[in-house]
Amino acid sequence: MASKLHVLIVGCGTAGLMLANLLEKACISYQIFEKTKELKPLGSAIALTTLSHIFEQLGIYDELMAVSKKFGALHLVQEDLKHRNTFNARAPGLDVEEVYGDYTQVIARYDLIRVLLSRIPPHKILYNKRVLSTKHEDDEVIIHCHDNTAYGGTILVGADGAYSSVRQNMYKEMSAKGLLPKIDAKPLGYDYDCLVGVTKPLDPKKYPVLNDEFCEFQIILGKEIPFSWWFMALQGNKIGWMVTEDVRKNGTAVERNFRFSEWDPDSAKNMCDKVRHLPCPYGGTLGDILDETPKEVISKVMLEDKMLPFGGQGATMAMQSAVTLANLLFDMYNVTEPEITRVFKQYYDTRSGPGKLAVNSSHQTGSVMHMRGTFGNVFRHIGFNWMPRWAMKKGMDSYNGYKEQISFLPFAKFRGTFVPRTNKPSRRMIPGSNIAMAV
Ligand SMILES: Cc1cc2nc3c(=O)[nH]c(=O)nc-3n(C[C@H](O)[C@H](O)[C@H](O)COP(=O)(O)OP(=O)(O)OC[C@H]3O[C@@H](n4cnc5c(N)ncnc54)[C@H](O)[C@@H]3O)c2cc1C
Ligand SMILES: *[C@@H]1O[C@H](CO)[C@@H](O)[C@H](O)[C@H]1NC(C)=O
Ligand SMILES: *[C@@H]1O[C@H](CO)[C@@H](O)[C@H](O)[C@H]1NC(C)=O
Ligand SMILES: *[C@@H]1O[C@H](CO)[C@@H](O)[C@H](O)[C@H]1NC(C)=O
Repeated sequence: MASKLHVLIVGCGTAGLMLANLLEKACISYQIFEKTKELKPLGSAIALTTLSHIFEQLGIYDELMAVSKKFGALHLVQEDLKHRNTFNARAPGLDVEEVYGDYTQVIARYDLIRVLLSRIPPHKILYNKRVLSTKHEDDEVIIHCHDNTAYGGTILVGADGAYSSVRQNMYKEMSAKGLLPKIDAKPLGYDYDCLVGVTKPLDPKKYPVLNDEFCEFQIILGKEIPFSWWFMALQGNKIGWMVTEDVRKNGTAVERNFRFSEWDPDSAKNMCDKVRHLPCPYGGTLGDILDETPKEVISKVMLEDKMLPFGGQGATMAMQSAVTLANLLFDMYNVTEPEITRVFKQYYDTRSGPGKLAVNSSHQTGSVMHMRGTFGNVFRHIGFNWMPRWAMKKGMDSYNGYKEQISFLPFAKFRGTFVPRTNKPSRRMIPGSNIAMAV
């Protein structure tokens, strides 16, 4: 067994880069493998929740605050632009910053990537390395890339997104051994087509919403048409936008899967043409916003049915998971197979609960948003306007109930009136402990 830990990270997205930032601080050896030739400014807005203490610990809090906006509210709007419902993050008596320490931050995906990337020594990222297969060989894990190269390490982290090839390889192996749970054996279907982008900097005289301190989501729900379209005013005078098309009626999930593609600027044009005429709450049409977005940063994706972006939890979940994993690796007793197995088991025990919860809630939010007709309207109205304050508070308390700190860096203070549970510092950080690093 190799005595030194070397982590292979597949995917240079939010999860991979967050883990790399943590391993960098932990002095644990790692490499990142990314399939694209370079990181392009793709994506729309991303919501960051319950992560401020981690950003503070990593020393990137101020930098992130400077390129993001506080989430203030979410408005549901009818196709004729008549306002229907509002979820307010600053409700009197339940101001998120006051109670939980920080508002959710809304940031262009690429700005987040840029900040995370700035802390990683460039030679640790290998671009143009699409990982095709993975193999467990003796005491090593080996990855094979499309350019016929291979790399070995002690553990492999699949941070390669929704269509993870690391996961697909793992499932193949498990399936051959009859170990794959039924629910995972089902092919990935997808329920929504999605188009995303961020405009270039716009003139606040034309779009006064850009002057707002808080970011308020405008979500327009089609009445007869299966679309919803979203607008988010971002820091830097940019507008992030997203269009989703509910395609659950277009054949079965598996049939739809044949049309599978990825975050891809090329397949975007068709969908752009289909939605240009839709109205924009800032005046004009969606087409005006599309025209202000450089063509090469518009991408289209099929949203898989297992994790939808409607709850805005993907990035938050990914980063929380990275912290859990890094903490466990830092405290490993030795680099042996039983010890690695123990670490992964503990990782699973910690993260599978929150993971399942997030999948469920993103699902529910997705179907509520796309529910048509009177029933959908009544349902949304109750959810947004009639939910009693105590019920809302209870949900938010449990969401904020546990916040894991980076166990090997000085702990950050929780600022809100609500005090979350947290973990203990690493056993190796206790004053006087002097326990050598196993890894
Ligand atoms: C281009 C893009 C745009 C996005 N836009 C939005 C958005 O607007 N709003 C939103 O809420 N979420 C968006 N997401 C998803 C969001 O980033 C993630 O759901 C969340 O941040 C969790 O991140 P992740 O690191 O697990 O995956 P991702 O952020 O999806 O990153 C995965 C990375 O792995 C790479 N990769 C994939 N397969 C391989 C392979 N076989 N070998 C090597 N590398 C591989 C990808 O190129 C990518 O860089 C986007 C993702 C991408 C890739
Ligand atoms: C889904 O079906 C509808 C109605 O048949 C059609 O208008 C729409 O273009 C289809 N969408 C996709 C993505 O195939
Ligand atoms: C590795 O650490 C575990 C946990 O402390 C211990 O049970 C095991 O004996 C150790 N193995 C070796 C080879 O040191
Ligand atoms: C998620 O939803 C599934 C199916 O509806 C349910 O069986 C499961 O208990 C839910 N899990 C959590 C953690 O809420």
